[in-house]
Amino acid sequence: MNILLLGSGGRESALARKISESPRCSHLWIAPGNGGTAAYGTNLPDVSPLAFEALEQTVADKAIDMIVVGNEDPLVAGIYDYFADRGVKVVGPSKAAAQLEGSKDFAKDFMSRHSIPTAGHLTVTPDTLEEGYRYLESLQAPYVLKADGLAAGKGVLIVPTLEEARRSLGEMLAGQFGKASQKVVIEEFMDGIECSVFVLTDGRGGYRILPVAKDYKRVGEGDTGLNTGGMGAVSPVPFADREFMDKVEERIIRPTIKGLLDEGLVYRGFIFLGLINVGGDPKVIEYNVRMGDPETEVVMPRLASDLVDLLEAAAAGDLGDLPAEIRPEAAATVIAVSGGYPGSYRKGLPVSGELHPAESIVFHAGTARGADGTLVTAGGRVLAVTSLAATLEEALAKSYRSLQGIKFDGMYFRRDIGRDVL
Ligand code: AMP
Ligand code: GLY
Repeated sequence: MNILLLGSGGRESALARKISESPRCSHLWIAPGNGGTAAYGTNLPDVSPLAFEALEQTVADKAIDMIVVGNEDPLVAGIYDYFADRGVKVVGPSKAAAQLEGSKDFAKDFMSRHSIPTAGHLTVTPDTLEEGYRYLESLQAPYVLKADGLAAGKGVLIVPTLEEARRSLGEMLAGQFGKASQKVVIEEFMDGIECSVFVLTDGRGGYRILPVAKDYKRVGEGDTGLNTGGMGAVSPVPFADREFMDKVEERIIRPTIKGLLDEGLVYRGFIFLGLINVGGDPKVIEYNVRMGDPETEVVMPRLASDLVDLLEAAAAGDLGDLPAEIRPEAAATVIAVSGGYPGSYRKGLPVSGELHPAESIVFHAGTARGADGTLVTAGGRVLAVTSLAATLEEALAKSYRSLQGIKFDGMYFRRDIGRDVL
């Protein structure tokens, strides 16, 4: 079948590679793609994942059978519904179900309705500011404030004092994150270690649990400094053992799948559970309606089964008894970022060295090809260097060795990925 993959990051590179390995894939198109994705198919650099009418033309021109959506924006904007109405399979949630990521308030209410463990919360609007202040006073520091809507990963503030929390609440409601913070969700702070669990569901009660991963969000070693899109990831996650994962399935995955069914929320795609382990008990920090980045760069290499079979079955609404087999090897990815990221950084710097190292897979993220075909940087997160090995230690060692052979001006990466869980 002909497949169109939407997106341009490291996640899409990892999905593209896995899709292209399937004998079921006749041709893969990636819109817009990046400087590395053309190795797995054909880039469509001028096609925007958000311009549905133009996409429809591409789907017709290329005889696309299935659309796989990498990032949340097209899903929250309703790409599933747009193409379902036109008879094209889309892997993802309907617009209504995508509100699980598109609105934190919607997600919290969904969890309350289905008794899914998560932090206590109150949603505040400018009209209920006083109630918001009173709720803050009832909580212990630190205070968690979240813009309700999509804010490109920047809409969560964790502040140490009540005074700052009151001020931040006022500023958010006054438009600090534009429309996204017209409503603000105040949450209880949960103390624990986080992990990411991915589920592929067919919208009819069938689901498969994919390898669990942990990402590293802070830019600095020892989890210090500013938040980023993610500086590295490992899979499996040692603390997410059988006992923990049984709790995740029983208390979170099953009620989520059943809740979607009971409420008639059509969902045929990836569910990303951002979880925190609080004293051995999993709680939901957030839902995302897509795969994670950089988690996908460790999850896909560990998936032994044919991804296209699984995606097609999910999009068709029947996973049946298709297996999602996991390789026993561990995987690690380390992200090479532009100097200055997540603040301002330069683009267009030449990338050189060994981009096909024997020990690792180099997934492109923020890269582009210059007019003469040379590879240049084009974003904050530039490359994801993934390795598989019998142990996490060895996978990490391979990625760090491979990184020694890659260069661009200002290149930076964390040297402590995975160290906290080893
Ligand atoms: P989110 O965008 O909801 O995933 O929040 C971003 C990050 O903020 C999460 O990955 C957590 O590290 C942290 N966080 C969010 N909510 C909470 C909470 N209720 N308690 C503790 N940390 C939180
Ligand atoms: N790695 C976290 C995310 O993709 O949102």
